Parts: sequence; structure tokens; C-alpha cells
Amino acid sequence: MSRLSVAWNRLRRMLHNRQALFFLFIVCAVWILTVQWRSPTSSRWSSTLSNSLTESLNNIIPPGPDTRVPPRRMSSNNTLPPLEKRVFCYGPRGHLLGQSPEDDLKEIELEMPYPMPFAGSYEAMGIDLTFMTADSRYGPYGYGEDKDTYTRTRVDWDTVDWGRLQNACFDRNRHRFPDTAVGLENTQTSYRFAYKNQTRGPEIRHWHEHRPTRRTAIVLRVWRGYEYMPEDMFNIRSLIAETALKSGGEYHVILLVDMKDYEGNIFGSEEEYQQGFKNAGVPPEFRSIAILWDSRLLQSWYSGIEEHRTMWQVYQPMQLLALHYPEFDHFWQLELDVRFTGDAGKYLDRLTSVARNEPRKQALERATFWHMQQMIGEYEDFFDEVNKLHNNSAKIWGPLRVPEILPIGPEPPTKFAQDDKFKWGVGEEADVIVTSYCTNVLNAHEWVFQGWLGGFRAGLKTPRFFCPPAITRTSRALLFVQHEAQMTQNIRVPSEATPTSFALWHGLKFSFPQHPIFWESRDDFDTMEKWWKGGPAKSSTGIGPDNVNHPRGYGLTFWWESDFPRKIYDAWQGRRLDDGVPFPWLLTRHEEKIYAPSMILHPMKHAR
Ligand SMILES: *[C@@H]1O[C@H](CO)[C@@H](O)[C@H](O)[C@H]1NC(C)=O
Ligand SMILES: *[C@@H]1O[C@H](CO)[C@@H](O)[C@H](O)[C@H]1NC(C)=O
Ligand SMILES: *[C@@H]1O[C@H](CO)[C@@H](O)[C@H](O)[C@H]1NC(C)=O
Repeated sequence: MSRLSVAWNRLRRMLHNRQALFFLFIVCAVWILTVQWRSPTSSRWSSTLSNSLTESLNNIIPPGPDTRVPPRRMSSNNTLPPLEKRVFCYGPRGHLLGQSPEDDLKEIELEMPYPMPFAGSYEAMGIDLTFMTADSRYGPYGYGEDKDTYTRTRVDWDTVDWGRLQNACFDRNRHRFPDTAVGLENTQTSYRFAYKNQTRGPEIRHWHEHRPTRRTAIVLRVWRGYEYMPEDMFNIRSLIAETALKSGGEYHVILLVDMKDYEGNIFGSEEEYQQGFKNAGVPPEFRSIAILWDSRLLQSWYSGIEEHRTMWQVYQPMQLLALHYPEFDHFWQLELDVRFTGDAGKYLDRLTSVARNEPRKQALERATFWHMQQMIGEYEDFFDEVNKLHNNSAKIWGPLRVPEILPIGPEPPTKFAQDDKFKWGVGEEADVIVTSYCTNVLNAHEWVFQGWLGGFRAGLKTPRFFCPPAITRTSRALLFVQHEAQMTQNIRVPSEATPTSFALWHGLKFSFPQHPIFWESRDDFDTMEKWWKGGPAKSSTGIGPDNVNHPRGYGLTFWWESDFPRKIYDAWQGRRLDDGVPFPWLLTRHEEKIYAPSMILHPMKHAR
């Protein structure tokens, strides 16, 4: 999005929002006061760096030489050229998407601003300010097809093959990708997973053995026995059409199916795999993109780690996926309880692009605070506040050293963080993109997983950060090192801390694009204050608020325990809400239709 349109959107919001007007007034007043009274040589800007975190770490590194062979490290300039223009692809009705009104989303602009988020920002994310009804958003994928009012061509969904459509799209766009990129074979008829003792491929792979392919897998995690409701079908179809098919093959959607207590040995033979497939319950249209796994697979590769369940080790199947399907540069992990009320492809493109353009300096520092516009203003103000707190330096510069890890990430281009003008990492793909703010595990005394780790000499003193939920994009390089450390060193930290901590230990690029999140009551400043806790200015460490506790998140649109997403979704579709449940304020009624702004909802309670 251009700077001009960002400015315009801001203005649009301000003119409509008294809150913002008041805020603007305060900002002006503060600005006048500080500019008038601050001495030009303010000592607040002096850059004496006190790197207490790293200092305390140095104390736990044992003396004596390390005899291991260090791995090859990445270059500190890691930018890739942009890809050529995307070529249109065919959708499930046989029309070219982007040119087919019955397949394409109908996004409209209403003469009103987007609602103000509780946390995150539309402007900083560069998301278009358009609205959709449930029909304009999901109609192309079958929503409403059971009614006479359905105006689109009905599709015989069982005959659609989403794997074939995705590959055809990739083929049409072949010229845009390096030679290393390939389509994905039909995963029902051919599978690559195998127990460690039967593997045909290498047990360990390294980042430098793989050239970029510019392709990203979107992995939807699901399990045997999952009941696919109509809304799940609309959701999965929309994800494939909007990410893979509208991106000219940059994404490929995969269903990763946990066989959950299935008795058969699916990796025993071809017949047994097919037998497992019959039992997996995957709808016909998705069979060519479904990959099965079971806990025995994890046990065979990670036999030194006693726990493989999702709550503890959600990344183990992802690590094995990267090992067996290394033709993807990145892997988004989504579950079926994630919903995009806007165009999912555009949304993911925006998250990715913001992450790509984020400087490495203070990325973790920024990620430990929520950007709350109504407390601090635009993202730039938030960014500056964090920088001020850190005196233009950074707590972590290059790998966060722990003795067990020999980093693969680059050395910083400058010795000291304060010498970097927020240039390093700009334009570089992030190795991990997280979707909520992060917390230092050492302070998180109420986090149930605080004491769960293994494989470290420093034990509980080992620095770790967790950023729930495990909805993340991780790079192939990052998944490779997680895999190797788990398999050869039995290193384990809980799911929510895994990709962030490994990325930090290795000095890989980390980013939290602060996407918009809402709270169920509008302008609830009391609740906002309780999450904000004074923000960066009140933090004594510069790494998150001093008090890591916060109120329950039931009313958030994106929070692990929330029940608000279901209410929004139901109200948007015109369903009757339970008695006493108010109509969600962030939806808009216009000409007897209900419109939603673009956002991510999670978790969506599974319902008929
Ligand atoms: C980094 O690499 C890119 C592409 O090779 C190049 O355009 C850019 O100038 C480089 N940046 C620096 C700081 O060397
Ligand atoms: C290979 O490993 C699997 C799972 O750990 C086990 O069930 C199987 O017996 C092993 N096969 C051989 C030939 O050792
Ligand atoms: C920034 O500088 C001030 C004054 O020199 C100092 O008190 C403060 O601890 C520094 N903050 C950080 C995070 O290093």
C-alpha cells in the first residue's frame, strides 16, 4: 500500500472517530510540551548499552573449548528479488480466478472507517479497508448453495481435485519460480513419510543444501474423526483458492492429518497406508493434498523426547514435513479453527510483507508488547517508544547464545546494535512469523509450561520466549535445526516456545506483524489498561511489561481461550445469538446486510 493511501486511511479514521480526535489533541499537546522543554542534548538519547540479558548468559556458558564443528552460517544480507507478476489460475468452476464474478470475492468500501482495534493496526499492516457479507465472502465456495436464492453456478464438490488445481496453477506460473520449485505430487497415491529406520532420505538436512524455491506450504492440521462441517468446507476451499490459486502458485495448501489412536501401521506398506486413508475421513475433494502421520512416526524420529502430544510438541510433525518436503521455503501452520473474514491470501501476503520489511533490530523487544493504538497512537509511535526505551540499542544482537546451540544465523553487519539504523533484516524473509505477542519464560510464573524443558545444561535458566498460539510461519532452515536438535540432542521446549526460542538462539529473523485484534466491548479503556500495563514506557527491562499477568481473554477476536469469534461468525451469518449476547459491535449493518471488516478469528468453536 502506498504511503499516500496509508495517510488517507488514517485521516478517514480520524475524521470519523472522536476517540482519535481526542487522542490527536493529547499528542499535539505532549509534542508541543516536549519539543519546547526538552534540551537538545537530552541524556535519554545517550546510547550506553547495558546488555544484562547477554551478560547473565555469558555466566552460564561453561569454560573450555567446544570441539564441535560449527555449521555453515548464513550471510547477513539475505534479500531475494521480487517475483514477476502473478498469472491468473483456474478455479473450481473452470473459470480464471480474478476474472470470474461468481468465483471472486465481492469486497466493498462503505462510507465509514474500520472499527478501531484493541491491539494491532490496519494501517501498519496495509490491509485494504473493505467489508464483506458472509455471502460475498463464502458464496463462491458453496455458502448458501442449499437455498433457491443462490445465484452462482453450483459445483459438484466431490469431483473437484484441489491438488490438481493447485499444480495446474503452479504450472501456469512455472516461469516465475527458480528451477528448484516443483509442484506437489498427489499425496493420496504417493507418500514420503517413513519411520526413521526405514527412511530413504537423509536423516538430517542443512539449510545450505537447499536453494530458495519461493514456495510456501500452508499446513492445515486436522485429525482422523474430525467432523467436516459445511463451514469447514467453505473455509478450506477459500484458503486454497485465495492463497494458492490467486497467488500464482506461491502457496500450496496441505492437510496434515493426525491419525489419532488408529490401530493400523500406516507406514507398514502401501496397502496399509491406503487402508489408513480410507479411515482418515478426508473429504474426496481434499484427498490429493492430505498427508497422514501418527504418533509412532514422531516416536521413531524423536525417541529421546518423552512427549509428542500437540500441547508440548506441535512442531514435531512440521519438522518432519520440512525434512520430507524440503521444496518449500516456508510453512504456515494453521488449524481449522482459524478463519479469515477477508481475503485470506491478501491477509497472509500482508503479514508476510510486513514481516519481510521489519528490521531485525528490536524485533523481539517490539514483539513483547502489544501495539495498542488507543494507548500509544500509530505503529511508528510505538516503534519509537520501544527504541527510546532501549537507547537506540537492542537486548539481542545476533544469536542469543546458549551453549548447546551452534548458530546458523548471520553475524550482525555492525558490532553494536546502536550503529545500525534499522537497516539490517529489511527485505529479508522472516524465519518465524508469530501471530501474538511474546513473553520471557523466565518471568512467566503462571504459565503452566514454565518448567517444561530438556537438554540444556543451564536448565531452567535457559533463555526462552513463548508467543502463543502456535499459529506461525516457520522457515525450512528453522525447522531443520529444530529437527536436528530434537533428534540428536533431545532438546525440548514447549510448543509455544519452540520456534521463537530456536530462532533467537540461532540468530534467525523473527517477526510479529501486529495484525488487528478486537475486544468484545467497544472502547473498554479499563480492560485495555489492564493489558497495556503502561506499555513500553513502564517496563523496567524493556522486554515486555514487568507484570506478565493479564485479564482473561474471552472477549478477544484472537486469543486461545476466547469465545468471541463464534459470536461474531454467527451474527455475521444472520444466526440468532443466545439470549443476552449483544450483537458484536464491530460488525456493520448496511442496507439490511451484515458486513465484517477483514480480520483473523481464532479459535472458532466447532459448530453445526
Ligand atoms: C543485499 O543484497 C541485495 C540483493 O543481492 C542488494 O540489492 C543489496 O544492495 C544488498 N545490500 C547490502 C547492504 O549489501
Ligand atoms: C522401525 O521402527 C518402527 C517404529 O519405531 C517399528 O515399529 C519397526 O519395528 C521398526 N522396523 C525395523 C525393521 O526395525
Ligand atoms: C538507557 O539509558 C538510560 C540513561 O543512560 C539508562 O538509565 C537506561 O537503563 C538505559 N536503558 C537501557 C534499556 O539500556
